[in-house]
This record gives sequence, C-alpha cells and structure tokens, in this order.
Amino acid sequence: MSDPRTVTELACAKLNLALHVRHRRPDGYHELETLFALVAHGDLVRVTLADSDSFTLTGPFAAVLAGEGDNLVTRAAARFRAAFGGGAHAIELEKHLPIASGIGGGSADAAATLRALAALHGVAQDDPRLFAIADALGSDVPACLLGRTALGRGRGEQLMPLEGLAGTPTLLVNPGVAVSTAAVFQRWDGVDRGPIGTGDLLTVARTGRNDLEPPARAVAPAIDAVLAALAAQPGVLLARMSGSGATCFALFDTHAARDLAAAALEGRGWWLAATHLR
Ligand code: C5P
Repeated sequence: MSDPRTVTELACAKLNLALHVRHRRPDGYHELETLFALVAHGDLVRVTLADSDSFTLTGPFAAVLAGEGDNLVTRAAARFRAAFGGGAHAIELEKHLPIASGIGGGSADAAATLRALAALHGVAQDDPRLFAIADALGSDVPACLLGRTALGRGRGEQLMPLEGLAGTPTLLVNPGVAVSTAAVFQRWDGVDRGPIGTGDLLTVARTGRNDLEPPARAVAPAIDAVLAALAAQPGVLLARMSGSGATCFALFDTHAARDLAAAALEGRGWWLAATHLR
C-alpha cells in the first residue's frame, strides 16, 4: 500500500502551441496570447510529511539545477506553509526536463509541489489561494497548476480551458543551450503581429506563431537546425519553438511517424523526448 504521508506528482512539461506577444507593459512584462498544452513527460515531485525540512535533487538534470541555488520548489513550499501551515516536509525532485528551456520545467515543479502539498493537507486542488501563490511564483505556474490545455492571456496567468488534440504524438527536441527568458523577451522587436485566431485547436495553433522565435534564434542560433530538422520529418502537423526556447516540438499524425522522427534525430547530441499531449 502507498504511504499516506507521501504524495508523488508528475510535473508535466508545458508547451506553447502558439505564443503571440502583443505589447510591452509598463511593469516590464509582456502582454501575451498563448495556447498552453501539457505533455505526459516531465519531472517527478515527491513530498513526505517529516520532522524537519529537506530538499533532495535527483535525476539526469539534477546537477545543472543544483548549480542554480534557489529554486521554485522550495519557494512554492515556503509560500504554501505561509498560507496554509502544514509543518515540515521532505521534498524530492527528480529532474528529467532540461533547465531554462522554454517548456516550463521550474514552473511545472512548483505547480506539482503545490498540488502535492494540497493533497497532503486537505486543500482543494482548485482553491483560489493556490492559484494566487502560483501567480506570484511565475507567469507559467498557473497554467501548470491548471494542468490542461488553455488559452492564456495577460502574462499567461489569465486562463481559459480549451479542448482538443489530447493524445497527439509529440516529439520534444532541445539543442542543449540554456536560454534566459528575460533576455529573449528583451529582444522582441515590439511589433504586434495580431491576435490568436478562433476555431479548432490545431487550426488555431497552425495559423498562429511563436513571436519569440526570432529573438530566441538570435540568442541561440542552434534553434535553427532543430526547427529545420523537425519540420522536415514525415507526418508533422506542426513544428515550432516553445516559450522562449530553446526547446522545439513537433506534433505528429501517428505514433509511428513520431518514433521514426525520434530515431532520425538521434546521434546529434540533442535532448529528445517522445511523448504525447495530455
Ligand atoms: O514570470 P517569470 O518570472 O517566469 O518571467 C521571467 C521573465 O520573463 C520576466 O522577468 C520577464 O523579463 C519575462 N516575461 C515577460 N513577459 C511575460 C512573461 C515573462 O516579459 N509575459
């Protein structure tokens, strides 16, 4: 039987199927319209009731994150305790997602931490106070906490759930270059290229854009080769960069097409994850 004092949550990577930057705000953030989707691949967050606080990092990207010092998991836990109490916890983060890579790894970890703590302490998963904490932790944390496909506005925190594309085979590819979100937003050219359209999700995504692609490609030219390689694969419905990069994704018409693409892109030193949309 599972230990009732431990809750394990999957911290799914988030994708921006489209990301339209509309204008720069006086507070320095950018007003967005974005299609958030989650994939089944992610980090694992395990939270256990304990006598004293501890935080353990494991997994393939643990060493990279350990070098960063502060992280969103411990900040999420501190804010949860300030709002709800709940005592001490042993938290383990199993890090499978690349750091600073446009797929919301840190945001997903923070949201998974909040979900696990809520489950341990009888707080409803849709408690507005959890969303307020998520909002304070980062622009993508509310979308990760909501945990489903959604249209995001504002900084990305105003969310409207959307249906469509669940189960779509997806390949994530990262060229191994960490990209600063702030640096990419800073290089955006200030041109409003228009809103996200309406209609079925795939059409809206395909007719949309990621306005951060040009500035991200300027910061990390390795993105060019990833996007070109993904777009050239048979069976691709959509190939695009996610968030501020450098991770790019492709949606495929079949699992077989995705797996063939993953095999074709192996051996270039890129990080790959074959997964599907949730
Ligand atoms: O909200 P978060 O801390 O994740 O954002 C990181 C940085 O990305 C911000 O400091 C800001 O420079 C930039 N950003 C932005 N507009 C957004 C979201 C993030 O300019 N909507």
